[in-house]
Amino acid sequence: MEDMLGYIRKYPEMILDAIEATKRAALPSYEFDRLLVCGMGGSAVGGDLATDVMRAYGIPLQIEISRRYALPPHVDRNTLVIFSSYSGETEETLSQFAEARRKGLQMICMTSGGRLKKWAEDLGVPFVEMPAGFKPRAALPYSLFTVIEYLREAGKLDISRDIDETVQVLTELRDDPQKDNEIMSLAGLMANSRISVYAADAYEAAARRMKNQINENSKLPANWDVFPEMNHNEIVGYEDNDLNKESYVLLLRDADEHPAVRTRIEATKEIIQGKVKGVAELWAVGKSKLAKEMSLVFLGDVLSYYLATHGKKNPDKTANIDALKAVLKEKLNTQEKIEKELV
Ligand code: PA5
Repeated sequence: MEDMLGYIRKYPEMILDAIEATKRAALPSYEFDRLLVCGMGGSAVGGDLATDVMRAYGIPLQIEISRRYALPPHVDRNTLVIFSSYSGETEETLSQFAEARRKGLQMICMTSGGRLKKWAEDLGVPFVEMPAGFKPRAALPYSLFTVIEYLREAGKLDISRDIDETVQVLTELRDDPQKDNEIMSLAGLMANSRISVYAADAYEAAARRMKNQINENSKLPANWDVFPEMNHNEIVGYEDNDLNKESYVLLLRDADEHPAVRTRIEATKEIIQGKVKGVAELWAVGKSKLAKEMSLVFLGDVLSYYLATHGKKNPDKTANIDALKAVLKEKLNTQEKIEKELV
């Protein structure tokens, strides 16, 4: 089995494999004008990225992510509900699956196994099967590119050329030892810090992903926000304060960012520099929005891996999540209860 860095380096191949797996699944052509992605943690971020992509390409399809036990009340027969759970065992996602089933909604699943796969098979819900054996967060290309391919098949989005560019950009980044060294050195500077990730609003999903990866892979406290919103609240938290001496600020940049956002980022840097341990920048690579966003995801994922190695942490393990899931199983056993009602 690969280590976490091995999986991250395989993102170009995973993108192509995700597209093939979606084609093989021969999903039905549903009629929908709204998309709801139900998932948690690493399995929800594909939906966040799809949201950024739809907005960047000006696609007027409403897309929403549901990280909860219950579906939002406005889902209806014109909504396509996608259930994303790598393990297929996440109780919030399974609970929404059961509700969608009761309501007779249009459903698709993305999973590598567990109850979600079994229920999909038993109940005839179409699904895309992801390969087994990954850590859920390392399977991110599957959850994003399954959605992108399905939207292409549904005639709602065609960005095939930008997918090619994305594969090329990620392959070049992976094969660039200088870039790798740069990220490794950055991890050395940022090690043992509380990390705040900020991006322009167009890269909201990349910022959130980076924060999650720093939590889960590097075992460090982290938060995220976007410009311009953080200029209306979060920036005030950087007024002289000893607490910020342990904070490292990571800015996600794009050479083509909106001029007003650029001015805000530069001014924010001036204001907070000197009050925190350090400020660093990661620049998006590529021409298309898809390639740029995925390059930030890739660089952030590699950074989270090197932060883990600097802190002598195992990026594969998420002991607190496992401990919590064990308590929930013992006290609630939600999955089994839902299963009894469903079958
Ligand atoms: O990356 C992780 O391991 C977590 O964030 C999981 O994705 C999260 O707990 C949900 O599990 P799953 O992706 O299997 O539904």
